[in-house]
This record gives sequence, structure tokens and C-alpha cells, in this order.
Amino acid sequence: MKETISLDEIYAPIEEPLLEVPDSILSILSTPNELASEVIRYFFSRQGKYLRPALTFFGAAIENHQSSLQEEKLSRLAAAFEIFHSATLIHDDIIDSAHIRRNIPTINVKWSPQVAVLVGDYLHDKAISAIFECENGRVISLFLRTAGLVCDGEIHELREKNNFNLKEDEYLEIIHKKTASLIACCIESGAILTGLPIEKVEALKRFGRDFGMAFQIVDDCLDFMGEEHEFGKTLGTDAEEGVLTLPLIRLMQVVDEPTKSKVFKIFKRGIAALEDVSDASNKLRTLKELLAEYGALDYAMAKGREFTEKARLELSIFADSPIKRSLNHLLDYVLDRNR
Ligand code: IPE
Ligand code: IPE
Ligand code: MG
Ligand code: MG
Repeated sequence: MKETISLDEIYAPIEEPLLEVPDSILSILSTPNELASEVIRYFFSRQGKYLRPALTFFGAAIENHQSSLQEEKLSRLAAAFEIFHSATLIHDDIIDSAHIRRNIPTINVKWSPQVAVLVGDYLHDKAISAIFECENGRVISLFLRTAGLVCDGEIHELREKNNFNLKEDEYLEIIHKKTASLIACCIESGAILTGLPIEKVEALKRFGRDFGMAFQIVDDCLDFMGEEHEFGKTLGTDAEEGVLTLPLIRLMQVVDEPTKSKVFKIFKRGIAALEDVSDASNKLRTLKELLAEYGALDYAMAKGREFTEKARLELSIFADSPIKRSLNHLLDYVLDRNR
């Protein structure tokens, strides 16, 4: 059996540039505004997985020497992508009424949704200015197109809330827009910035897209089967908010009518909204049992694996190297992750 290695080990070949990202983030976001500054320090006190900056560096380094990684432009770009991602999370937590992110209260809860909207906007705008500093027209236009897609993906998901007939294809389109597009943009931008030939840039873009699809599918499974303290987010929030993700979409396709009505009932009255906490957790448990009984979680995880295997094929164009090995390990990590 293949052993999954840790994210730190996967990041080893890009450890140096990655270490600079937290300082770059704070320097890009520095402001005399005390409230903004306090909220920013709070949010970034918990580091995420840094997937987007890591993929930017991987794209840049896969066929280039370490020296290109030291470039200031690349480092600012990687930090800017993480800031943009953070802005989408801050706004997403308002949309999803989420209370916990990275194991601490969300900005919308600790301060207010108003503060979260404005600080999210500030991060969004600062990220865009920092991305323009790379002075590469291809990267800038790729990013702007992607930013539009992410937003479109979130709107599309919102529009489909409580749609129990949501089809798998439409779900895949939503997660492509809201998640996979940005992940692909990061690795593609790193590759563009260091002058990789077009067929290799395209291969990395497809790698990022398929990796991103798997990443979101697994995230949606973890919303049901993860451990809250490891995942760092409240479990069951998608279901609670009426957002149908792949496990539930599959369940609705395969269950009989009486079971379908049982699921409808759980949804209609909400899970956490119930006053009786034990009833609420019973409902989430019932939902989890049904997902397991009908193989819906296994189905979704298998779909995730299909995407990682598609992504793996894209690496065949590259010669063996520590970065290529890391990208391969990242595909195993995404299926095995618990945070
Ligand atoms: C969370 O992204 C949002 C999704 C796309 C599922 P990450 O899981 O990459 O968030 P952090 O940055 O590591 O917290
Ligand atoms: C993440 O979406 C937000 C974006 C990709 C813009 P989700 O709502 O699925 O992710 P979490 O679970 O809150 O991190
Ligand atoms: Mg969310
Ligand atoms: Mg969301």
C-alpha cells in the first residue's frame, strides 16, 4: 500500500519561498486602519494549508532552477493568490453562516457580517493590485477571468440551494468554477511566469483543475465524515444550509421514495436549527447512516479518485524531479486528508 506523506514533506522542495509567504501577506495588507489591521492579524494567525502559493511555486519550479523561485515577483504573486483565496473564504463564511474556520470563530461571528464584507473586500482589492505587480499580461488576464468564475460559482451554488434534483454534472460545474479554477490558475501562473512552453503550461493547468475538483469533492465528504477539531470547520454545514454536494446528490439518486421523504424531512426542519440538540445530532447521524448505507460517500470518494488519476496522467510530460514527485504525493494527500 502506498503511504501518504505529510504536507510538510510534500512542500520540502519549495520550503524556502513558502516560508516568506506569511511576511509577504502581511506586507501587502499593511494598513494604518486599526480595525482592519486587527481583523487581518486575527484571520492570518491561523495558517491554512497554503495550497495556492505552494502550487504557484511548484508551477514555477518544475522545470526551472531554484534561483527563479527567489524572484520577488513570484513571491508577491503567490502571497496575492493566498490573499485572494482568504477573501473568498471570509465572504463564503457569511454566505454559509459558518461559525468556525481554522478552529477559531469566523470574522462574521467574532465581529459582524458587515466587518467581514468590508475586510473581505479590502483583501480582494489588495490581492488584485499585488497580482498586477507581476506585469505579465497573460497572468493578469488569467487571474481576472478566474476571479469572475469563482464568484459565478458561488452565485451558481446559491441559486441551487435546496434543489433536490441537482444533477451531478451541474455540481461538477459549480465546484469547477468556485474551487478548481483558482487552483488551476495558481499553478498555471507560476508556469507562465517562468516561461514554460505552452503544452507544459496547459498540462499543469489541467493538473490543477483535476486536483482542484478532487480537493473540493473530498472537502464535501469531510463535511459529513470529518472530525471537527481536525477539519477546523463546523461539520454538516452544507446540509444545514441546503447546499447539496456530491454525497447527497448521489443519495437522492439511489434511495427509494420513503427514504427520500425521510431525507426531505431532515432538510425541511433543518439540522442545527432544531431546539432539541439531541434531535439535531440524531438527524445528522441519520443522514450519515443513510450516506454510508447507500454507498454515497464511497461513490463520491471514488469520483475524487477518478479526478486525481486524471491529474496524475498530466504529469507524464515532465521528467522525474523532486517537484514532480511532490505533485504526485499531493494527489495521494488530497484523498487521505482530514483537514
Ligand atoms: C477551503 O480551502 C475552501 C475550499 C475550496 C474547500 P482550503 O481547504 O484550501 O482552505 P485553507 O486555506 O487550507 O484553510
Ligand atoms: C469554499 O466553498 C469557498 C470558495 C471556494 C469560494 P465551501 O463553502 O464549500 O468551503 P468551506 O467548507 O466553507 O471551506
Ligand atoms: Mg463554506
Ligand atoms: Mg460555501
